[in-house]
Amino acid sequence: MLKAELHCHIEGAAEPDLVLRLARKYGMDVSDIIQDHAYQWNDFTSFLNCYDTASRVFREPEDYRLLAYDYYSRLADQNAIYGEVFASPDHAAEMGIGYSDMINAISDGIDDAQKQFGIEGRIIVTCIRHLGPESAELVAELCASNPHPKVTGFGMAGDERAFQVEDFANAFAIAGDAGLGLTAHAGELDGPKSIEDVLDLLGVKRIGHGVRAVESPALVERLVREQIVLEVCAGSNIALGIYPGYEQHPLPTLLNAGVRITLNSDDPPYFHTSLNNEYDIAAKHFGKNDEQLAGCTRTAINAAFI
Ligand code: ADE
Ligand code: ZN
Repeated sequence: MLKAELHCHIEGAAEPDLVLRLARKYGMDVSDIIQDHAYQWNDFTSFLNCYDTASRVFREPEDYRLLAYDYYSRLADQNAIYGEVFASPDHAAEMGIGYSDMINAISDGIDDAQKQFGIEGRIIVTCIRHLGPESAELVAELCASNPHPKVTGFGMAGDERAFQVEDFANAFAIAGDAGLGLTAHAGELDGPKSIEDVLDLLGVKRIGHGVRAVESPALVERLVREQIVLEVCAGSNIALGIYPGYEQHPLPTLLNAGVRITLNSDDPPYFHTSLNNEYDIAAKHFGKNDEQLAGCTRTAINAAFI
């Protein structure tokens, strides 16, 4: 099965052993967030804290190159032909790495994997919602004023419960005017209104998660009519407790309604998942056949910011 993914955070793709290795290199203690080679967290807020702490081991551009190479090599090993990664300049800046140094390093890691395995990759620069609109606008301006051939999208991750969507309209306008594809996390922690808001106020064509659209039949109809693509991350949703189990997950309902769906790993080691596992989940828990799974790959390729 050929695969492609549109929603994986590069910082969240760091295997615990890579983080341990870099922590040793920099003399950092990460025993509070990694035990028995696994990340330790128990709800969305502690997940974000764990993620932020782990991301602090990326202190030199070479660390980002290695991370990107490691992720894309593993993706190629799962028969993926294409992957888009979210990269957060705010996380790099906290450790003293500038925008272009971060992007060039991730791009180099993608190139190294491309040469070895033939996989293609692009970068979606992401702002972090809970850091607020000013940070988001700075990140958008960095993308707009430093164009890079592999940066083809702009997104927003972080805590959906912070600020209002309209606060980020200016950041998305800057990125959209620069010709970048737009996506935002919505409908993960928050309900259908959050999805309507990012469509209406940010002009996105894809939604990160978006699964809670199922709570509004009118919104589901709109997603179909406007051919909006959902970056669904079912393993992540179950791990974070958005749904108690796969039986309650809305992917089958959304797909049957005609919504364009892609399968994605989000932050694979945090949620004990992988792109392979997401395709397995769709087969085993949602009863999808090979043709339907291949359809998700095709949707990802068609909706790619490339
Ligand atoms: N950042 C990394 N993973 C995320 C998720 N699942 N939701 C929001 N922000 C994130
Ligand atoms: Zn995400």
